[in-house]
Amino acid sequence: MNGGYEPLLRHLPHWTELVALLQARLERHGDYPHWRRVIDELPVLDIVPPSFGDTVTISGDLNDAEKQKLRALLLELHPWRKGPFALFDIHIDSEWRSDFKWQRVAPHVDLEGHRVLDIGSSNGYFGWRMLAAGARWVIGIDPTVLFCMQHQAINHFIQSEANWVLPLAFEDLGESFCAGCFDTVFSMGVIYHRREPLEHLDHIRRCLVPGGRVVLESLVVVDPPSLAPRQHYARMRNVRHVPTPQLLCQWLRQSGFTGAEILDITPTTRIEQRSTDWMHFESLQESLDPESPELTIEGYPAPTRCTITARTKS
Ligand SMILES: C[S@@+](CC[C@H](N)C(=O)[O-])C[C@H]1O[C@@H](n2cnc3c(N)ncnc32)[C@H](O)[C@@H]1O
Repeated sequence: MNGGYEPLLRHLPHWTELVALLQARLERHGDYPHWRRVIDELPVLDIVPPSFGDTVTISGDLNDAEKQKLRALLLELHPWRKGPFALFDIHIDSEWRSDFKWQRVAPHVDLEGHRVLDIGSSNGYFGWRMLAAGARWVIGIDPTVLFCMQHQAINHFIQSEANWVLPLAFEDLGESFCAGCFDTVFSMGVIYHRREPLEHLDHIRRCLVPGGRVVLESLVVVDPPSLAPRQHYARMRNVRHVPTPQLLCQWLRQSGFTGAEILDITPTTRIEQRSTDWMHFESLQESLDPESPELTIEGYPAPTRCTITARTKS
């Protein structure tokens, strides 16, 4: 087995078959050889213990020429959607201020000693925050290979065996791999893409221990009825539903969760999501109606996100 995934089996010894797939999943992406070379060229450096605050920060000694080279390498892994990160004073100003989301979630969840699954983890930014909040380990899964490579770049310096980003879709975690393996499961920014949201929640429930917690974050509309966008929503493809917070709570109950609690409802601003040097493409700004920014370009209510938590029965 290669790809450095063996230590994962200490957390999940029955994942041997799954772990054997991972390297091949990465390698079948056409850009993998380029991204691999970028990571192989990253310098090997001593670092001081990293800090997993609002900006995930890695520090150590690097001269200006080395910094320039490192910056150029990290830019080869464009677009950086989630962050921010700072590596040796290079500030990766990602499209999303993911720290804003974490500030909305963190006060409500106790992760002390928890085994965590983060579905749609992107580059693992939240995994670092979860470790700082006391999680024992975090398994992030995301089928987008570039995000797995960004995580590898960050972890090249941190060398953690506690925060993983694996090239897997949630559908890959069949019953034999995930049943009752996790104390907390995060599904943030994923459910509105799912054709069958109840199946997604039922699958999450089966991943959790009795009394385990789901943290569910979704685009919502605050005024009924819920939306089923015809084609695009804020220029995103595959947004199947934009539910109301109440409908999300109802889905959780229908899927066997109890005590659904709405933690937060916040409109997404152009400060939280925007184009930057590290994400050159268009962003929220271009997805809103220029005349009426309370509407998307398609005429729907502009993005608002809701975080809900609930538990499985004990
Ligand atoms: C909108 S982003 C949300 C990222 C992060 N969780 C957050 O809240 O900022 C959705 C992520 O889910 C990933 N994703 C898409 N389909 C998935 C699937 N079937 N299973 C797991 N992750 C998926 C995407 O690659 C993307 O990184």
